[in-house]
Amino acid sequence: APTPLQLTRLGGRIGALVHGVRLGGELGTETVEAIRTALHTHKVIFFKGQQHLDDISHEAFARLLGQPVGHPTVPAADGRYVFELDATKGVRANNWHTDVTFVPAYPAASILRAIELPPYGGETVWANTAAAYRSLPPALKVFAEHLRGIHTNDFDYAARLGLRPELAENREVAELFRQVFVATAFKTEHPVVRVHPVTGEKTILLGAFTQSLVGFSSDDSRELIALFQRFVEKPEHTVRWRWEVGDVAIWDNRATQHYAVNDYGDEPRLVRRITLDGDVPVGVDG
Ligand code: SIN
Repeated sequence: APTPLQLTRLGGRIGALVHGVRLGGELGTETVEAIRTALHTHKVIFFKGQQHLDDISHEAFARLLGQPVGHPTVPAADGRYVFELDATKGVRANNWHTDVTFVPAYPAASILRAIELPPYGGETVWANTAAAYRSLPPALKVFAEHLRGIHTNDFDYAARLGLRPELAENREVAELFRQVFVATAFKTEHPVVRVHPVTGEKTILLGAFTQSLVGFSSDDSRELIALFQRFVEKPEHTVRWRWEVGDVAIWDNRATQHYAVNDYGDEPRLVRRITLDGDVPVGVDG
């Protein structure tokens, strides 16, 4: 059995802080397995004091957990796998989403490190989508299991990704943003209830890239998605993290959604993420 990590649970349904681990490419197998177990149990895990990480060691650590994968349309910040969210360039992920669900085998996990932070705000909230599924009334569980969502990156990123209003109003900037995030338009179908390949838990698979539900009009889709999404966003299913420089968060992208709170005005906020390759979701019928 892997070495138990020293953990402090943060929420009743999601989140734990891991103590005493220096992240990097040299970690032993037992520690890596213990991190993996903690990730699948707590859905998002946090590490403090990891200022020593740079893009290279961030990637070296990522490789111990899985296969890094680049963003499908946004060129990597360092030419490899690093996806940078720089608020001063308008990139603020302030919508509820699971990373990159618009491709069939979307990422299994994401590893985010905080580089520069605003003096206040800029926190991130994660929700446990397995807890959300479990909280559905029985009839809604059955209903959800019959639904399929259509996920796409082909939407107005400027409006949905929290581009600062003065930038969003600038057509050229909005178009540039669109050209990067929708350089290639992807569209894929996923079951609304995904069975987690490791834990076997049923999870609700929706989030900001979900455009509609198969067999429903866009109006009906919007209302049904909102109904299920309410269960995901219930505060009881979430944990909110107050970042410090050097913090690292790892989330199970197959069992969570997250939201980067955009409440810091023009203050800088810079975080860097590496995602790990995933697998095509499997619904309840296999
Ligand atoms: C993300 O959506 O991957 C980034 C979250 C954050 O900026 O806190």
